[in-house]
Amino acid sequence: MDKYKLVIRGEKPLAGDTYVSGGKNTSLAVIPAAVLCEEPCTIENLPDIEDVHVLHRILRALGAKVDFDTKLKRMVIDPRTVHTTTVPFHFAQQMRASYYFMGALLGRYGKADVGYPGGCDIGSRPIDQHIKGFEALGASINEYSGMLGLEGSPHGAIINFDMVTVGATINVMLAAVRAKGNTVLTNAAREPHIVDAANFLNSMGAKIKGAGTDTIRIRGVDKLHGGTYTVIPDQIETGTLMIAAAATRGDVAIHGTIPTHMEALTAKLLEMGVSVTSQDDVINVRIKRGHRPIRLSTQEYPGFPTDLQQPMSALLTRAGGHSEVNENIFDNRFKHLDEMRRMGAKVIISGRTAYIEGVPQLRGAPVTATDLRGGAALVIAGLMASGVTEVYNPEFIARGYERLEDKLSALGADIHRERVD
Ligand code: UD1
Repeated sequence: MDKYKLVIRGEKPLAGDTYVSGGKNTSLAVIPAAVLCEEPCTIENLPDIEDVHVLHRILRALGAKVDFDTKLKRMVIDPRTVHTTTVPFHFAQQMRASYYFMGALLGRYGKADVGYPGGCDIGSRPIDQHIKGFEALGASINEYSGMLGLEGSPHGAIINFDMVTVGATINVMLAAVRAKGNTVLTNAAREPHIVDAANFLNSMGAKIKGAGTDTIRIRGVDKLHGGTYTVIPDQIETGTLMIAAAATRGDVAIHGTIPTHMEALTAKLLEMGVSVTSQDDVINVRIKRGHRPIRLSTQEYPGFPTDLQQPMSALLTRAGGHSEVNENIFDNRFKHLDEMRRMGAKVIISGRTAYIEGVPQLRGAPVTATDLRGGAALVIAGLMASGVTEVYNPEFIARGYERLEDKLSALGADIHRERVD
């Protein structure tokens, strides 16, 4: 694909109806999980995003038959033709969630060789808790030239994670569903996509209880069958659209959401003076007066999600007064605020805290995305700013949002792609 940038003429209030796509983080867990099944699986409501295409390519490299219909948002995966348990480094490096092939291939074949995962540069992202879990299930681990080799048929175990981690909770759950005996995961993460991944596996015959709480109990089963599963709507895309509506002083109805997944963000927007109401699967966001400043701390679910910290802190640069944002999950997740200084944002960053002094106006400027959610934050900054903002490296955004610029322009934003020579 040609290199492009996003060009935004700001200060247009968003208005009207939009819809949310299928969950990125759920899809990234459910697609690798399909190799645990003995029969074809159909996964519906998948977002058409670059990370899903990377997983598609990895599955095909493993030998699975895969048909991804991007119009119908449906992928059919037949894992019966898988002929290798190796995910080469160059594939694994393209994204974070390639690590789920470790748990899925180990759980299905008792062997996996997977390159170290890539993903957004938002601080150090070790995988020691994944390895601890695989070892407890009986796997031997061998690290060699950028690869992690895992071998051994998993058996049940009791595993207490040293910290709350989404990735390790899902990965170890994948390795345990076909293990001999029972597994208990304590201090497990509780994110909606963990519940969705467990629901997918249970619908294929797994016996998982407690997903969504901090203790997950898994009774190992001999095999998983195939079937059809629909992934949940994207919590972070929903939140990004809510913040974009608030940032432009818009009036937007977002359809196809699960409002209970949005409670932490909703509470913070209400505190800022934004009106947020919901009925069934529709969330309405509107604002009449200026935004009030707030204090914000990211936490594991059901706390405020780190993935929404970046869009939200972009919004806070325009709130009337002093805001404080504490990033408790990752250690380098404020790069978008550095870029926004060029747009007139007043920010002091000290370690994991950003002190933001709201300004009455941001000015359009060229800015560069360095990660997925930071890229979305810069788009929100551009929507608020006067004049023209150019967001470079929007490929980061396309990794996790399905044509964000199209959804925003359908709501009245002036945003388009332009080729960069
Ligand atoms: C997942 C999400 C990402 C989200 C993050 C936190 C996917 C594909 N990505 O990322 O969008 O921002 O959850 O909600 O679902 N940690 C360790 N050792 C480990 C694992 C994690 O120290 O073995 C640390 C991490 O460095 C981080 C914290 O634990 O500080 C949380 O990480 P984790 O929840 O695992 O995030 P990811 O799975 O990478």
